[in-house]
Amino acid sequence: MEPSPENLLQNLNTHFVGRHIIYYHSLPSTMEVAREAGWRGAAEGTVVIAEEQTAGRGRRQRSWLSPQGGIALSLILRPAVQHLPQMIMLASLAVTSAIETATDLKAGIKWPNDVLIRGRKVCGILIENQLRGGILEFTVVGIGINVNMDPSAYPEISEIATSLSAELGHQVSRSELVKALLVELERLYLDIRAGQSLYQRWRERLVILGQEVQVIEGGQVEQGVAEDVDGDGSLLLRCSDGSLTRIVVGDVTLRPLL
Ligand code: BTN
Repeated sequence: MEPSPENLLQNLNTHFVGRHIIYYHSLPSTMEVAREAGWRGAAEGTVVIAEEQTAGRGRRQRSWLSPQGGIALSLILRPAVQHLPQMIMLASLAVTSAIETATDLKAGIKWPNDVLIRGRKVCGILIENQLRGGILEFTVVGIGINVNMDPSAYPEISEIATSLSAELGHQVSRSELVKALLVELERLYLDIRAGQSLYQRWRERLVILGQEVQVIEGGQVEQGVAEDVDGDGSLLLRCSDGSLTRIVVGDVTLRPLL
């Protein structure tokens, strides 16, 4: 079923996440529409969703392929500033849980917040904080999931990406998946607001701990074992000289070394 506002709001079991939906058939990127809506005072929990994006954006100025058949949405949240580090945990955990609710697939998280199935990327997350005078006004959590698409039809991602339909061999109801996602996002967000940390739950889902990885940051390459993560989401990298480097979530690319 299509994730139209009517289909989504039917039996949507949330209090505020997804209670207001801004729906587009096609648009450049849900991030811009959400940002503008946020500055106009849109309520916390407002979701911008599109069937297709023509200029989807990824992390590190990359583009995000967003044809019909996927899920592309941006959620407006107004978290307390001390809860910001948990937003990456919130989004990736909500996606893994929603995938497991809507399908019987197992999903893991590649630090900081790519969602993988059998080592291939099925979801990307982009979080943009909006500040005024150094004060956090709101944050936009962008989530793109490859649902009913054939990644082999897109040479630029065919080696590294997968989709739910490619993994399952059949199509998945996108509106059921979006609903499960919105429910999880709200549940986990309320946990954060109640003072609970998502750290342990997120850490347990990480697929790279103990692996040899390469971290690329602003042209600098560091190599080591992904030893652990800490409470603010940073990666602790054990380098070959024995030193421990703390890699802060940001414009970082991480590659497992085979
Ligand atoms: C990444 O892995 O680099 C992040 C990809 C984020 C894609 C989503 S799709 C919905 C929202 N709109 C965008 O333009 N980007 C995010």
